[in-house]
Amino acid sequence: MSMNKPVIQKMPGDISAMKGHSNIVCLTAYTTPVAQIVDGQCDLVLVGDSVGMVLHGLDSTLGVTMQMMILHGQAVARGLTRACMVIDMPFGSYEESPAQAFRNAAQLMAETGASAVKLEGGRHMAETIAFLVQRGIPVMGHIGLTPQSVNSFGGYKVQGRGAAGEALLADAQAVADAGAFSVVLEKVPHSLGARVTQALDIPTVGIGAGDACDGQILVVDDMLGLFTAFKPKFVKRFGTLGADAATAVAMYAQAVRDGSFPAAEHSFKDEVS
Ligand code: KIV
Repeated sequence: MSMNKPVIQKMPGDISAMKGHSNIVCLTAYTTPVAQIVDGQCDLVLVGDSVGMVLHGLDSTLGVTMQMMILHGQAVARGLTRACMVIDMPFGSYEESPAQAFRNAAQLMAETGASAVKLEGGRHMAETIAFLVQRGIPVMGHIGLTPQSVNSFGGYKVQGRGAAGEALLADAQAVADAGAFSVVLEKVPHSLGARVTQALDIPTVGIGAGDACDGQILVVDDMLGLFTAFKPKFVKRFGTLGADAATAVAMYAQAVRDGSFPAAEHSFKDEVS
């Protein structure tokens, strides 16, 4: 008989309960192997719509579809046993009405096994968040720089500076009051990240929002140094996988050209020895 304890996957309520106790570690993932790598270290794994830019070469997240999210969500679910799995609602799948949001959130959860959805927006999305939460769908909010609104913002700019901080605080409070289990704060001044974190009962997860947030999230390809098209100021590269991969590919190409690969140990004999 195995004495191993069964592994319990974290749920949104476990993430909420971490506020004030320990910093919440979050990363994105889009594939099974990366999900397996991050699972043991992360409290929460987000299947972000950043997948469109990171893996599909899109200019923004606006072209990401339900179908893409479902395929990547299914792949990530196969690699997770411990971390809470959250999936992004893509642009156009939730803004029209609470009923549209429920239909698409339910499909994302049913077809991927994610335990929560994330959607972008503050006060104007509060009714939708409450509608989902009241019907059994845990919601993670996302305010500050919400990339799906990049065209309205006129670029990926810092949000909530100066007087705009009050509006952002009101957005955060509305998302929390609507029942979200946590909220992502993206690209806001450090002092505002601290204020919002202090004001809310639910955890804040920062990305470019300073160290006072209850947790941090990064796009996994950014922090691994795998996505190198550009590097936002808030990204720290903890690895050099992009450069390492380029070196490995150059070594492979050289070995094929000079005939040193495949060697005898990579080849098969006629007879089994
Ligand atoms: O899509 C994404 O990866 C995100 C995180 C960066 C918060 O929304």
